[in-house]
Amino acid sequence: MTDLLKLAYDPKNFRDQAHQLVDLIADHLEASLNQTEKIVLPWMDPDKRFLKWQKDLGEDFDFDLFWKDTINETIHIHHPKYLGHQVCASLPLSGLGEMLNGTLNNGSAIYEMGPVSTAMERVVIEWLTGAMGFTSEASGVLTSGGSLGNLTALLAARQHQSGYDHWTHGKKDEFQPAVMVSEESHYSVSRAVHIMGWGQRGVIKVPSDKHHKLDAGKLEEVYKDAERQGIKVLVLIGNACSTSTGSYDPLEKMADFSEKHGLWFHIDGAHGGAASITPKYKHLTKGIERADSIVIDFHKMLGISALTTAVIFRDGKRSYETFNQKASYLLNDEEREPWFNSATRTMECTKNMMGVKVYSILRTYGPQIFIDYFTECYDLGSVFASLISQSADFELPYQPESNIVCYRYIGSGKSEDEINKMNAVIRRKLIESGKFYVVQTHINNKVYLRSSLMNPFTTETDMEELIREIRIYGQSG
Ligand SMILES: Cc1ncc(COP(=O)(O)O)c(C=O)c1O
Repeated sequence: MTDLLKLAYDPKNFRDQAHQLVDLIADHLEASLNQTEKIVLPWMDPDKRFLKWQKDLGEDFDFDLFWKDTINETIHIHHPKYLGHQVCASLPLSGLGEMLNGTLNNGSAIYEMGPVSTAMERVVIEWLTGAMGFTSEASGVLTSGGSLGNLTALLAARQHQSGYDHWTHGKKDEFQPAVMVSEESHYSVSRAVHIMGWGQRGVIKVPSDKHHKLDAGKLEEVYKDAERQGIKVLVLIGNACSTSTGSYDPLEKMADFSEKHGLWFHIDGAHGGAASITPKYKHLTKGIERADSIVIDFHKMLGISALTTAVIFRDGKRSYETFNQKASYLLNDEEREPWFNSATRTMECTKNMMGVKVYSILRTYGPQIFIDYFTECYDLGSVFASLISQSADFELPYQPESNIVCYRYIGSGKSEDEINKMNAVIRRKLIESGKFYVVQTHINNKVYLRSSLMNPFTTETDMEELIREIRIYGQSG
């Protein structure tokens, strides 16, 4: 055994390092949450940053300095002036779960390699399905992200709906299957369809209405049109909510339509599906319990560190069809895989201890912590939207239903082209200043700024400051 290996595994060394690092992380959290740290994203050109770290590797090492520097250079998601992409300001305790995961390294895709995480994962899934209003037939798994979650669910849908054993025989030339989904869907949906080999014709876009929701009135027409072209629609996908605009599709009407035509109804609830467990916002997901499968990211609106995604099946048996040679209804109980080897149902062969991460939060704070996180952030979305709509020189393109708010500075007397360019410049300047982090999107070919209110510590004062800052950049040209 080398001295270096002995040092790297030395429990005392680990204890000292852990204490030092936890102190630094706690200092960072304090500075971010209280805004004594003024910068959200310490902007640096990517090539310059690469060169900096390349040079660092050859220099003397100081543990404390190294971690301080690393933390400083991160984007500070816990800063109340982070109003960007949909990544939660993770509950610090879930970070400790990550530390346990990384140190104990249970590769939990089979029971023996992750006994406690596997058991906790099932408890978490049962709690979630119960809270969402499913019966005890429902089941599911945790996996690494919404993108993989959508693929996991759609693979099961394909196997179940094809009418033959798709997994074994692959796609038949004469058979063009497809999903129907709104124009607003996340790209991971179309990516999953392409991975499944259904090609471009496998994604049929249903137009959305002026609120950016799937237009249920168009479903029948789009479906018939697909049939006329010889396309067999197998799946209907609803957004709860859409990524770009945060709008909820009419899930009940979509469930009715799916039932009528024998389609698999999948809901991409990666961002907002968890509304269904909150008293205040559950109306947004009315009908969710009628879906065949649903994806919910714990790392978006439920405060858990990335990546932790629930893939839920109304009929839990179907979760075995994702990678199964036979449809689950053809298997007898002895043939069926046992629930506790999650590799049979998820892509991961080595899986991190997601069950522990979620369970530890549920156990420590109770389910209310998830409700509080979700509700506070959605409430902040309304506050921000109303501030924007009260500002005459700003435009709010639609009334948001979630904590994702799109808006733009219009100033006065400017052409469409000038407004688009101006908002792109405003975002770049904001980011380079480091004072706020917001993102950008296109709606009807126009440039909008986009903010997801992901941090319950963001205040109305922060929002007013952002509006002022945008105005200054807009006016300075
Ligand atoms: C609606 C929706 N689905 C899926 C995803 C992908 O999730 P992940 O980033 O966890 O892969 C996102 C991410 O923003 C999303 O908004």
